[in-house]
Amino acid sequence: MRLSERALGISPSPTLSIDAKAKQMKASGIKVISFGVGEPDFDTPDHIKEAAIEAIKAGETRYTPAGGTLKLKQAIVDKFRRENGLEYQTNQIVVSVGAKHSLYNAFQVLCQPGDEVILPAPYWVSYLEQIKLAGAEAVIVQTREENGFKLTPRELKEVITARSRVFLLNSPSNPTGGVYTRDELAALGEVLLEHNITIISDEIYEKLLYDGLEHVSIASVSPQLKENTVVINGVSKAYAMTGWRIGYAAAPAPVAKAMADLQSHSTSNPTSIAQAASVAALNGPQDAVAAMVVEFEKRRNYMLERINAIPGITCPKPGGAFYLYPNVSAYFGKSYQGRPVNNATDLANLLLEVAEVAVVPGIAFGGDDFIRLSYATSMENIKEGMDRIEKLLGALE
Ligand SMILES: Cc1ncc(COP(=O)(O)O)c(C=O)c1O
Repeated sequence: MRLSERALGISPSPTLSIDAKAKQMKASGIKVISFGVGEPDFDTPDHIKEAAIEAIKAGETRYTPAGGTLKLKQAIVDKFRRENGLEYQTNQIVVSVGAKHSLYNAFQVLCQPGDEVILPAPYWVSYLEQIKLAGAEAVIVQTREENGFKLTPRELKEVITARSRVFLLNSPSNPTGGVYTRDELAALGEVLLEHNITIISDEIYEKLLYDGLEHVSIASVSPQLKENTVVINGVSKAYAMTGWRIGYAAAPAPVAKAMADLQSHSTSNPTSIAQAASVAALNGPQDAVAAMVVEFEKRRNYMLERINAIPGITCPKPGGAFYLYPNVSAYFGKSYQGRPVNNATDLANLLLEVAEVAVVPGIAFGGDDFIRLSYATSMENIKEGMDRIEKLLGALE
């Protein structure tokens, strides 16, 4: 059977493949410590689960409008007003099957062949594939470690062409944890508006912020920027609801309509029960989120101290999300028992097979000098995993 060119162009997610290898090792009885995962290790709060059970009992088990229930859209509108200072109407909101799906819809309705999407690296790997699937071309622009992996207006200007159509922004960032300030967003926004470039702003890690940092949506910086931005968010990371699959987008009404129309011919509505649970997540008590953030911050501090204590490794302090993104290039050219380490992928394989610690090589995010470590795992695992990493790196010669 012939596969389409579109299908042949898809690269499998490297984050999922290392996870699969780690799971396989675990299944065969090996105690793998996984720093590869991209989801909170906490359970969904009880009041959210209860809302789902109530929805089932109340018969909320049928099709809903393709772009989401009015109740959930209203809860999202209220959330944007309360937390982001953004005023939307319900016809500007589209609820999808996870933020990944919201992003997919956004690229599909905004991009076409010939368009360029400016993608700052390091980037979350699915952006690249989704840009390709929309027929557009990703223009990857490397950010610098010394700038906390944040793009500067000058770096942005250098890659803009007449074909630049969309700019992808992800703050807080996966994989670096970098968080843009209001001033930095305003400066980037000015350049983007000047060239009439649409912004897709992925704010899925909005609530996972440390050191008292504040999340700013670029859409809230000015009314013009709001008109030029599709904001993407969801409940997966903030409420430990990765399996429920609810994400959402806020956009100018014609864009939101196009996204909902597209969705009406693919998935139709996201699961009715998960939508009811998401209403409870957004409208209900937020103390579970706060408790999770306190725990993540402790783990980040510990893991960062440990990683920066390893000779040769540098890692900027991430302000958000739940990842560290250390530069491990000082170890390239070394070897372990005759096995060479020439790049981060070699190192990640060695860490998994010898130290039994799963990490994601930076190549997955467009930079092979780095590995990504997720601290969405227990403190006990973090301690054990860091001991193992330290020991293995110490044994390289
Ligand atoms: C940057 C980023 N955006 C979006 C998503 C997707 O979130 P969801 O689970 O809601 O699809 C992820 C998940 O890993 C992510 O890291």
